[in-house]
Amino acid sequence: MTDIFRVVAPSNIAFLKYWGKKDPVLQWPANDSLSMSLNQLSTRTSAFVHDADDHIFQFQGEALPRDHASFSKVFKHLDSLAGSFGFPEKLSLSSSNSFPTGAGIASSASGLAALTIAAIACWTGSSTFFELEAKGFSREHLAHLARLGSGSAGRSLFGGYVQWQAGSHADKQKILPLYAAAHWTLHDTVVLFSHSEKSKSSTAAHGDAWSSLLFRPRIAGAPERMNAILKALDERKMAELGPLLETEALEMHAVMLTTRPPQYYLTDESVEFLAAFRRARQEVCFEAYFTIDAGPNIHIIHEASASSALTSWLQEHYPTLQLLHDRVGEGPWLERGLN
Ligand code: DP6
Repeated sequence: MTDIFRVVAPSNIAFLKYWGKKDPVLQWPANDSLSMSLNQLSTRTSAFVHDADDHIFQFQGEALPRDHASFSKVFKHLDSLAGSFGFPEKLSLSSSNSFPTGAGIASSASGLAALTIAAIACWTGSSTFFELEAKGFSREHLAHLARLGSGSAGRSLFGGYVQWQAGSHADKQKILPLYAAAHWTLHDTVVLFSHSEKSKSSTAAHGDAWSSLLFRPRIAGAPERMNAILKALDERKMAELGPLLETEALEMHAVMLTTRPPQYYLTDESVEFLAAFRRARQEVCFEAYFTIDAGPNIHIIHEASASSALTSWLQEHYPTLQLLHDRVGEGPWLERGLN
C-alpha cells in the first residue's frame, strides 16, 4: 500500500483577461487579470511516488509520452518543480477533466493547478493545505508555482473571485483571493461549439499579441477597466458588470484578429450565436452577458434569477448545442488516501 494524494482543482473564467506576456520565461503577464473560479468544471489529479526512471502521466486513463503535443507542459512543469526543490522521487499521476479538453474552457488552468498541488503534496507528504503551508508551500506560493506551468492556473488555487496582479517587476506579482464564492453566486452557462483541440494553443498565441496595433492601447486601458469591474463586483451589480465582460472579451478577440498572423478562435456559428443572444436579451428580457476565452465556446454569466428564461431560450433555439451549467466555486481540495 502506498499513500496517494488526490486533488480537484477548478477551472476559472476570466472577467478581465490575461492576454500577452511581458516575459514568457518568468510568466510575467502584460496586464492584471481577474477571474471567477468555477465549481463543477475541474480537473481531478492523483499522485503517488513510484519506483521507476521517469514520471508516468495518465490522462483520462491513457498513459501519455513526454513529447505528446498537448501535454508537454505537464512533464516540463514536473521537471521544473522537481529541479527547483530537489525532489528526487518519480511520480505516477493520473488526471481527468470534467469537460472537453482544449476547447476554450481553461483546461490548462485547472490541469496545471491540480498537477502542482498533487505533485507538491505527494513529494512533501502533505495531507492538507495547512500541512503544505507548514512545509513552506502556502496557497499563494503554490499559486505562483502553478502560474509558472500555465499563467491562468495560478488563479485556480483559490475559490471565489481571484485577481492576478502583474506588479512593477516579475517577482512582484501577486495572486489574491478578493471575494469568497459566497460574496455573489454568479453562474456560468457554457455553450459548447467545439469539442476539439483549438487551432493554436494560447501559449503560442500570447506571443503574437504584441504584433497587434490594438495591444498597447488595450494594456493602457486595462487598469481603468479593472477598477470598473472591481466596483461592479463589490456592489454585485450585474447591469454594470455584464457590459464590461462583453467589451473585454471582444477586445481580446479584436487583438487576436489583428495580430500577425491573425488568430480566429471564434467560428461563424459562435459569432451568429452572439448576435442572436444579444437580440434575445432585449426581447426575452433575461439579464445575462457573455465572455469568451481562447476558443469558440461562449460563457454566459448570470445570476440564478436569469437561469430559467436563459435555459428555455437556449433549448428552444439551439436544441442540439451542448450546455454546461456551472457557478462560482470554493476552490481546490486535497485529500490523502491509500492506493
Ligand atoms: C484566454 O494560461 O492558457 O484563458 O500561461 O501560456 O499557459 P499560458 O496561457 P494560458 O492563457 C489563458 C488566457 C485566457 C484568458 C485568461 O484566462 O485570463
